[in-house]
Amino acid sequence: MFLVIFVLLFLTGSVFGNHWTYNDEGEWSNLCQTGKSQSPIALTRSIAILKEFHPFSMHGYGQSTTALLQNNGHSAEVRLQNIEAPTVHGGGLPGTYQLDHLHFHWQSEHTMNNYRFPLELHLVHFEQKHRNLSEAVKHPHGVAVLGVLFDLSLDDDEDFQPLLEIIDNLKETVGEPRHLKDVFSAKSFLPRDKGGFYRYQGSLTTPGCNEGVIWTVFTNTLPISPKQVKIFEAMQTEEKTALTKNYRSLQALNDRTVYLRVSPMRSSATSLELSVMLLGLSVLYSKLC
Ligand SMILES: *[C@@H]1O[C@H](CO)[C@@H](O)[C@H](O)[C@H]1NC(C)=O
Ligand SMILES: [Zn+2]
Repeated sequence: MFLVIFVLLFLTGSVFGNHWTYNDEGEWSNLCQTGKSQSPIALTRSIAILKEFHPFSMHGYGQSTTALLQNNGHSAEVRLQNIEAPTVHGGGLPGTYQLDHLHFHWQSEHTMNNYRFPLELHLVHFEQKHRNLSEAVKHPHGVAVLGVLFDLSLDDDEDFQPLLEIIDNLKETVGEPRHLKDVFSAKSFLPRDKGGFYRYQGSLTTPGCNEGVIWTVFTNTLPISPKQVKIFEAMQTEEKTALTKNYRSLQALNDRTVYLRVSPMRSSATSLELSVMLLGLSVLYSKLC
């Protein structure tokens, strides 16, 4: 009798519980199938409306601190420890959001100008007036995710090495957090110029796919080497199968608007370069004549 109950609980647990994979997206629960504001989406300049959001104000991301890293069976997840959580406001966000955790997707979930990047980092934040992430997802704009895309580079990214060592170590151990040996700073995983970004209203990209998530995807990328990407791809799921990809397929935009903020740094740099070049040309011209 107890055995039957146990088996039943186990079965319902695997059907309705936390049990999902990237190979059965078609069976993900409820909102994942019926939602009209789902993530990720294809981000392209041509569909975006240009908008002058205020710049982001970010506090505490530069703190060096200890961190716990774990393979949760779907991703590599980093939680900062022993610090007051970093917070962000501005950037068109309707409140102040605090960092809950960071996790990675390989390859990228969002595509930018029809390109799928090798890696995407999600810095998951919840609005500070809610107590925690699970409480915040129930509220409109309770959650804000900052997405960082990584582009292939020939050189290893030094900031990644300590993290990758641990990921390599726990690729086969799901749900057992390990301490990072070195200190961790969230700032090293954000582009230096955060002035350019896409913004839209979307959802969590894993079940239950809760909507009301404010998405920011920075247009400036960070570098990662092919060797480093391979370490992510070697991670395993709970069933000991390779987690070679952990990105959700692109979702329909429906009647949502995608905004794009263009970094003033980039355009001013370009106009500066241009004026220096013109100055050079005019000097050359005056010398020739
Ligand atoms: C989040 O906060 C709610 C409300 O205070 C609480 O009931 C819940 O247990 C908390 N969840 C976690 C995971 O801490
Ligand atoms: Zn994610």
